[in-house]
Amino acid sequence: MKDIYVLGIESSCDETAAAVVKNGRECLSNVIASQIEIHRRFGGVVPEIAGRNHLLAVMPVIDEALTKAGITKEQLSAVAVTYGAGLIGCLLVGVSAAKALSYAIEKPLIKVNHIEGHIAANFIAFPDLEPPFLSLVASGGHTSIVAVNGYTEYVPIGATTDDAIGEAFDKVARILGLPYPGGPEIDKRAKLGQATIRFCPNLRARSDLAYSFSGLKTAVVNYVHNLTQRGEEIPVNDICASFTAEAVGYLTDTFVIAAKERGVKKAVLAGGVAANSYLRAHLSEALKREGITLCVPPPVLCTDNAAMIAARGYYSFAEGKDVADLTLNAVSNL
Ligand code: KG4
Ligand code: ZN
Repeated sequence: MKDIYVLGIESSCDETAAAVVKNGRECLSNVIASQIEIHRRFGGVVPEIAGRNHLLAVMPVIDEALTKAGITKEQLSAVAVTYGAGLIGCLLVGVSAAKALSYAIEKPLIKVNHIEGHIAANFIAFPDLEPPFLSLVASGGHTSIVAVNGYTEYVPIGATTDDAIGEAFDKVARILGLPYPGGPEIDKRAKLGQATIRFCPNLRARSDLAYSFSGLKTAVVNYVHNLTQRGEEIPVNDICASFTAEAVGYLTDTFVIAAKERGVKKAVLAGGVAANSYLRAHLSEALKREGITLCVPPPVLCTDNAAMIAARGYYSFAEGKDVADLTLNAVSNL
């Protein structure tokens, strides 16, 4: 069978990324130009600045991905691009570059949903993984449980009703004076502290599989404000450990209910927060007790990257689905 080479392009938030993936599974290159340093002084992503920087980075990143993969543009089978969800001005840069390239080389343009891309990172990390399986998507913009019934069949069965888990991590880090992005900082600090504080004693998994993180986030913010007002020292490491334990416990309990209800034997973790060391260990253990295997991709495939977009795009290409034309537009709230 002829080998299929898909170029993936990702620009939904603050990473400009391009990657070449062979046959949906083998990552030949995975180039990421991160804007973290640029946005750090603002304490979060500034959409306008992010869009402009994507514009500067997108073509060099694509060229580098092709060079590293040892593939010419003409050898590509298709171009896959994130068209949503994300910041509109950022998405548009990737979508425009992908349209231009696909038109120039006369190869199909495949539109990819960012969340499905995160899940598809597991196809690269685990070459033998096949649907059906259940996934927990925990990122800066989304928190959801998605049933993957086929390579192109993604069915959301539960989601957050307010904040995403990554948003909660970033907000808690900010109130503690830790740099952006907060998730990795909290991960490091949590290892140095004790989980002795209970912020939301009533936070329990719901049978409708919906999440809510705003109450937990606000409880931490109020806790820190109270200590500050009283002039007391802020136990940063203990707050990080306690918040992580509570958030991860809650994420895990709901997901375990979903997995048991559906009788699944395989599960995958996806999204930037899947890089969290405590979540990786805790969820694996909890699922193992139920006889369910959890796939956890390496951290570089958890946070935003384009290899995951190419992998997801490959399966649409193989099934002749999600083929877009030059009228493709970015959709921020996909
Ligand atoms: O998936 P992602 O790269 O971008 C979105 O699609 O949103 O996720 C970014 C989020 C940020 O909120 C960041 O703080 C969080 O992932 N994150 C982590 C860790 N690494 C990244 N959260 C907790 N622990 C980590 N180690
Ligand atoms: Zn993402």
